[in-house]
Amino acid sequence: SPVSLNLNYVALFVADHEWEQLHPAVSHAHHLLHAGTGKGAGLLGWMDLPDKEEISRIEKSAARIRKDADVFIVIGIGGSSLGAKAVISGLCHAFHSSLHPQKKNGPDVFFLGEHFGSDYTNELLEALEGKSVYVNVISKSGTTTEPAIAFRIVKTWMEHTYGEEEAKKRIIATTDREKGALKTMANAEGYETFVVPDDVGGRYSVLTPVGLFPIAAAGISIRDLIAGAEEARRDYTDERLSHNQAYQYAAFRNLMYQKGKQIELLSTYEPKLTDFSEWWKQLYGESEGKDGKGLFPASAVFTTDLHSMGQYIQDGRRHLFETVLFVRKSRNEIQIPQSASDEDGLDFLAGERLDAINQKAFQATMLAHTDGAVPNVFLEMNELNVFSLGALIYFFEKACALSGYLLGVNPFDQPGVESYKQNMYALLGKSGHEQRRTELEERLNE
Ligand code: PA5
Repeated sequence: SPVSLNLNYVALFVADHEWEQLHPAVSHAHHLLHAGTGKGAGLLGWMDLPDKEEISRIEKSAARIRKDADVFIVIGIGGSSLGAKAVISGLCHAFHSSLHPQKKNGPDVFFLGEHFGSDYTNELLEALEGKSVYVNVISKSGTTTEPAIAFRIVKTWMEHTYGEEEAKKRIIATTDREKGALKTMANAEGYETFVVPDDVGGRYSVLTPVGLFPIAAAGISIRDLIAGAEEARRDYTDERLSHNQAYQYAAFRNLMYQKGKQIELLSTYEPKLTDFSEWWKQLYGESEGKDGKGLFPASAVFTTDLHSMGQYIQDGRRHLFETVLFVRKSRNEIQIPQSASDEDGLDFLAGERLDAINQKAFQATMLAHTDGAVPNVFLEMNELNVFSLGALIYFFEKACALSGYLLGVNPFDQPGVESYKQNMYALLGKSGHEQRRTELEERLNE
């Protein structure tokens, strides 16, 4: 597999018999998942991968965008945007929008609909001036407020800029097969549409059109992404804990939780994986944080955060463990230059590769944190490429589902997300929420 789990440094923290005692629970969780008899079994569609026909349609539409667009706006929130964002920022040029126009090979990708930030939204609209813009609005329910408002703003801009007919050709909607306001609008306006499968929840949807279309429009091979996921799908089907690394990761998290750890810190040594960590946080936080249970998923980028949160990790309250995501070799290497004067005293590193130094930082940190009683498990990849990222996505999805069942929760629902929404609808004066509005306003005026 392109992803390998290394448990060598956790032997200090978990004894062999503790692993062994988990075998029956892992087997049971595996059967719930594979037989579709566990909680939330109606949402197991992510376990299978999209078919060739669907991939071809996505590629065709993405090719048109790559040819015609300077800017491609992805509108969505949570599971409807985090997956695409993770893959695009992991694999595309970090400074694509600042490249010389001749060096660009496709549109800049901007994300919107993830908040109500006025300045951000205004600045994004300003950046569209004079550009050829296409939009993909993504919402499974078709009614989520943040992307719906962002879409109304962008749609108005598009109609004003291109005229109504041309705007329609530049908008692609990804939503439910038949219901929701976005579907109704897409039908009325005649937008091209992609379907969010009924049996896949938002946070597991990156390998459906939700993630695949923006990823393809950004110029990434979705066939290779799926091939990586497909390999992982085969690798992680064995029910035996000793033969399944995704299950070992899930079991390790469960053991940590049983031992009183409250926080799992996903640390990476590659800033291009920052958005991947955001995707991971949603996957685990939304899947497990319920019924008063669950590890709190946090993330850090090293070595950056070693100069801030590093103090806490090394010496603060011992309620965390670390999952390190490490990429051994960068795609483009960079070497430390020679210097005639050696004024900075760094000549001992001249000719050394930056990623070799990153590896030493990783080893040094892992040993220091282990000495500081922070168990460190790590996931290694040879290279950050589309194939390994596809495998990593599937690894985490499979492990998350199993981990949720080990914890005894439904890993596929998110009832807690509704509370703020209901309050917000009431405070905004949406019809049907009058009673709650009065109650909330009284509390706010106390
Ligand atoms: O994982 C989830 O279910 C959520 O994060 C949703 O994806 C998010 O709330 C967006 O929902 P929708 O796609 O319906 O707009």
